[in-house]
Amino acid sequence: MNILILNGPNLNRLGRREPGIYGHQTMDDCMEALRARYAGHTLQYFQSNSEGALIDRLYQADDEGTDGIVFNAGAYTHTSVALHDAIRAIGVPVIEVHISNVHTREPFRHHSFISPACRGVICGFGMDSYRLAVEALIEAERA
Ligand code: DQA
Repeated sequence: MNILILNGPNLNRLGRREPGIYGHQTMDDCMEALRARYAGHTLQYFQSNSEGALIDRLYQADDEGTDGIVFNAGAYTHTSVALHDAIRAIGVPVIEVHISNVHTREPFRHHSFISPACRGVICGFGMDSYRLAVEALIEAERA
């Protein structure tokens, strides 16, 4: 499968950003581990701090025939109708992912604008949330 891991704002600082919440692992470490584990699949990675660039990347993935997207939209999760609309507009299944359990955090993190447009949601398992989402996409394809 061709899977895109898509990260939104501030996730370029993983490893250094609030390690008490997000841990010490960098996204490079995470991608290396995922690519080793799922060597039979193509795992692409894109991160942007800009909402428009994330929307453009969703459409690009659709145009390229990407099989699935693992999407951590960061804080845009809680604000972006535009990302909701873009996910709905594409034919690629999207799994929403969060490193932290957003439901145990501040109330403004409890609502997601993108969940209703996504195939499923995985949150609260640290960086392993990404692996669980990749696994879910691969299993869904097998079923
Ligand atoms: C996050 C949770 C969001 O509330 C936050 O804005 C992030 C990261 C997570 O992965 O836990 O940037 O999506």
